[in-house]
Amino acid sequence: MRVGLFDSGIGGLTVLKAFLKYHPDNEYFYYGDTLNVPYGDKTIDELYGCVKNIMNYMYDKKVDIIVIACGTVSANLYDRLKKESKVPIYSVLDYVFKYLKDNNFKDTLVLATSKTIESHIFKSKLDTNVYEVACPKLVPLIEGGNFEEIESTLDEYLKDVPKIDSIVLGCTHYPIIKDLIEKKFTYPVSIIDMGEILAKELNLEDSFKKIDLYFSKKSKYLEKNVNSILK
Ligand code: DGL
Repeated sequence: MRVGLFDSGIGGLTVLKAFLKYHPDNEYFYYGDTLNVPYGDKTIDELYGCVKNIMNYMYDKKVDIIVIACGTVSANLYDRLKKESKVPIYSVLDYVFKYLKDNNFKDTLVLATSKTIESHIFKSKLDTNVYEVACPKLVPLIEGGNFEEIESTLDEYLKDVPKIDSIVLGCTHYPIIKDLIEKKFTYPVSIIDMGEILAKELNLEDSFKKIDLYFSKKSKYLEKNVNSILK
């Protein structure tokens, strides 16, 4: 089965990695829109413009399904894309709310981009306590491989967070720094990787393994980043 995945950059590779774990024998077409990263600060119209190009790329590649491997696009454009898409389309948010409910989490911290937090999608779908924190500095730091600054940036974002039992990594870039986030908590907390949940839930008709990666702009960290995420 030909599966198309896309994100603003390297973040969606964490979703691809989960798909490779649960469905190793498929053809994967990945589009990282590094020319337009970050998506989290764009207007909805700008975001839609970027995504339209990517959808056309996916149709050219004759994908059977499309996976929105980006929290920002999932939170803000999924309904529209579902109506317009020529092939079935899934979002990284698809099974997350159910997962949180089934596991009875009561106090959930959502870390995500500004645009995802502004959509309040988690607050609107859950009846439990949801603390939303926008982390606009993280994606550029992750894309630029600037891991030293990430530590202090996380301290800044997490300083007012109350006691929680779960954290949703609401941006697909954040599983890359999952260990750094986990280290900031002195008590056990469940960390939820949206790509893992989606990849596990979806049934795909396996075919053969092929991975085709495309990035709209190459940076000097790109190859190193890609290799360390997919290793
Ligand atoms: N990885 C994306 C997300 O899940 C995009 C982040 C960005 O480009 O700002 O939201």
